[in-house]
Amino acid sequence: MQLFLDTANPEEIRAVWPTGILDGVTTNPTLVAKEGRDFEELLREICALGVPSVSAEVVATDVDGMLREGRHLASLHPSIYVKCPMTTAGLAATKRLSAEGIRVNLTLVFSANQALLAAKVGAAYVSPFVGRLDDHGQDGMALVREIVGIYRNYRFPTQVLAASIRHPVHVVEAAKAGADIATMPYAVLEKLVHHPLTDLGLERFLKDWEKARKPMRVAAPGR
Ligand code: E4P
Repeated sequence: MQLFLDTANPEEIRAVWPTGILDGVTTNPTLVAKEGRDFEELLREICALGVPSVSAEVVATDVDGMLREGRHLASLHPSIYVKCPMTTAGLAATKRLSAEGIRVNLTLVFSANQALLAAKVGAAYVSPFVGRLDDHGQDGMALVREIVGIYRNYRFPTQVLAASIRHPVHVVEAAKAGADIATMPYAVLEKLVHHPLTDLGLERFLKDWEKARKPMRVAAPGR
């Protein structure tokens, strides 16, 4: 399973990139707005780090506008995936952009039917929003399982990107469901690394090692 960071903050990406666990980055207008920086400059900085997949979202809501923005975003760097919203216009734009070889991440997906349509128009990724469905009292991960099953039935090449991931259990469940990708905030990725027994175990190993290296010097009897 590929692990993506859900962020527009280059520092967070820089912190994780050297570990080798990161496969991509997803941004959205909210995350970009939070950075308070020029969108294109930000995208170029993230892509320059070597991240092979960087999702950047259009903000137009009509087909022509999405095509214009999508082509422009894709022209900025070969790693860019264009995010289009799951609307009628978003589907039409995805169809056209995909035919031009531009990889599209169809976002804001909340039903299996929407995911079916995303695959039909050739989206590279489909993004079901797990956490936001959970917030509405629905089982977000059940949707991921449903989509994975449907795509397997028809061998759709669209990759399932579990989005709106809120905690480490979501990541495990997405992996068990067979999601191709999970995108998560930096805080969640951090939590994947840590376990209190790992920290405790390491502390003990290091203490024992120190003790062995400094044996007590006790004078021999009779001297
Ligand atoms: C990623 O592509 C989505 O934009 C993101 O995961 C949404 O997450 P949120 O529901 O925590 O805002």
